[in-house]
Amino acid sequence: MAHWFHRNPLKASIVLSFDLGIQATTPLARKICNETRDARAALMQLLPDPGNEVTTIQNATEKYLSLLEGFIVAPQGSSQASSPPPQLEPTPEGEMSMEEGGAMNEPSGGFDGESKLRHAFRIKWSNTLISKLVEQNDLVFEKISILYNVALWYTKHAAKLAGSKQEVEEDEAKEVHRALRTAAGIFKHIEESLVPQLKEEGVAISDLDTRILSAYTLQCTAEAQEVTLARAIELEHSASLISALAHETARLFQKARDSLKSIEDPAVTKWSLYFNLKFAFYLSYAHCYNCKVLLNKEKCGEAIRSVKESDTFYEKCKIVCEEYAKAKGPGTIAKPEQHLFFRRFGPDVKRTLEKVERENSFIFYQKIPEEVPELELKATYGLASPQEYAPTGLNQNWTPQIYDGFHMSANSAPAQTQNDEDEFPGVNLFNNFLNFWGFSKDENVTPIKEKDIKPTDKDPKNNSGCVVS
Ligand SMILES: *[C@@H]1O[C@H](CO)[C@@H](O)[C@H](O)[C@H]1NC(C)=O
Ligand SMILES: *[C@@H]1O[C@H](CO)[C@@H](O)[C@H](O)[C@H]1NC(C)=O
Repeated sequence: MAHWFHRNPLKASIVLSFDLGIQATTPLARKICNETRDARAALMQLLPDPGNEVTTIQNATEKYLSLLEGFIVAPQGSSQASSPPPQLEPTPEGEMSMEEGGAMNEPSGGFDGESKLRHAFRIKWSNTLISKLVEQNDLVFEKISILYNVALWYTKHAAKLAGSKQEVEEDEAKEVHRALRTAAGIFKHIEESLVPQLKEEGVAISDLDTRILSAYTLQCTAEAQEVTLARAIELEHSASLISALAHETARLFQKARDSLKSIEDPAVTKWSLYFNLKFAFYLSYAHCYNCKVLLNKEKCGEAIRSVKESDTFYEKCKIVCEEYAKAKGPGTIAKPEQHLFFRRFGPDVKRTLEKVERENSFIFYQKIPEEVPELELKATYGLASPQEYAPTGLNQNWTPQIYDGFHMSANSAPAQTQNDEDEFPGVNLFNNFLNFWGFSKDENVTPIKEKDIKPTDKDPKNNSGCVVS
C-alpha cells in the first residue's frame, strides 16, 4: 500500500536570546543562558528537514528541553523561587548558607517551586494553521511550542519514510509506525499535561486549542493504524480482521474531523477535508473486505450489497479528494485522487463487484438486500495508541548555585525582543509562504522553509489487495 499523508506547516518563532542582561549576575548564569540559546537554535535548525535521523532530533530536543527546564522549575536546593533578591549585606551565616545551597533563604525547601525565570521572556510563535501569532510571557508556552514542532517533525519524518520507496520494507514500516505513535504521544502530553499549566488566557483558536490538539493526536494514531493495516493486507491476514481494522481506522479519522467541526476558520478546511477523504476511503475498504467475508460464508447477496457500498464510499472519497486538491490554505499541496493509494483501489472495487455479481447469477441466485451488512468494530490486532511521552528532566548543568546567580529585579518587564510589533499582518499564513513580503512588518517570525517530503508514485504491485479470487 502506498501511503499518502497530509501535513501542516511547522510553527515559526522569533529568535529567543535568553539574554537577561545584568540580572544574570555571574559568568555561569550568563553561560547557561547562552547554552540554552544555542541549544534552541540548533534544534530549530534541524526541524525543517524530515530526512534527519530520529536520534539526532532526540538528542537536540533532550538538550534544549533539559536546559529550558531550569527556566521553568527552580533547581532543588536553590533559593525559593519567588523570594526577593538576596540581601547583599553580609550576615555571619552568609558563607554557611551558600555552602548549604542557600538554605537560609529557603524555608520551604521547594523543589517543585516555579523558577523565578519562568516569566522573564516574551515568547512569540505562529500557529500551524491559523494566521495569527500567539504571545505569552511564559516559558511553558515555549516548551509546548517546541514540542509541537518536534511532534510535527516526527509526522513529517514518517511521511518521508513512507513515501520514499516503492514498497515500504518491514523495518521502515515499523519506524513509520513508531514515529507516528511518538508524535501522537507528544500531542497528547501537550494537551493533557502542559496546556493546563499555562496561566495566561488562551487565544480563541490557536494551536493550544484542545480541538486542534485532539485532531493532531487522532490523526497520528489513525495514520499509525493505516501502517498496520497495510501490513495486515500485505501479510494476507483474514478479511474479517482487515475489514474491522479499516473500519476502526475510518472511525478515528471521523473523530479527528469531528474535533475540528466547531472551529469556524477557513484555515482548517483543508485539514478537515483530509480527514473526510480518509474516512470515506477506509469505509470503502472496510466494506470491500466485508464483501470477502460474506462471500466466504456464501452470503453472496449481502456481499454484493457490501461491495456496492464500498463503491459508493469510493466515489464519495473521490469527490472529497478533488475538493481537497482545490482547497486553499496551509498544508500539503497534492491531488490525492491521482495518488496511487487511491487510484489502484477503485479498479479493485469494480472488479470485485463484477465478480460477485457474476457468481451470484451463476451459482447463488441470492436477493440483494436493501440494508448494508454491518461492519465489525473489534479488530483483534493492529490497533494503534499514542506512545506515552516521557518528559525530559532538568539538565545537570543547572545547579542551585547557577540558579542563585540570577537576581531578578522585582518589577522587571519580560525581556522584549527587538522589533516587537503588536500586530501581525492580517494576511493568512499561507499567502505569506508564497509572498515573503507579507512578513516585512514582523521580520522576527518568518515561516520556516521546510525540506520537501517527496512521495513516489510508483509501485510495482498494481492492486490494493481487495480482490476476490
Ligand atoms: C545521541 O546521544 C547519545 C547518548 O548521549 C549518543 O551516544 C549518540 O551518539 C547521539 N547521537 C547523535 C546522532 O547525535
Ligand atoms: C494499474 O492499473 C490501472 C487500472 O487497472 C491500469 O490502468 C494501469 O495501466 C496499471 N498499471 C500497471 C503498471 O500495470
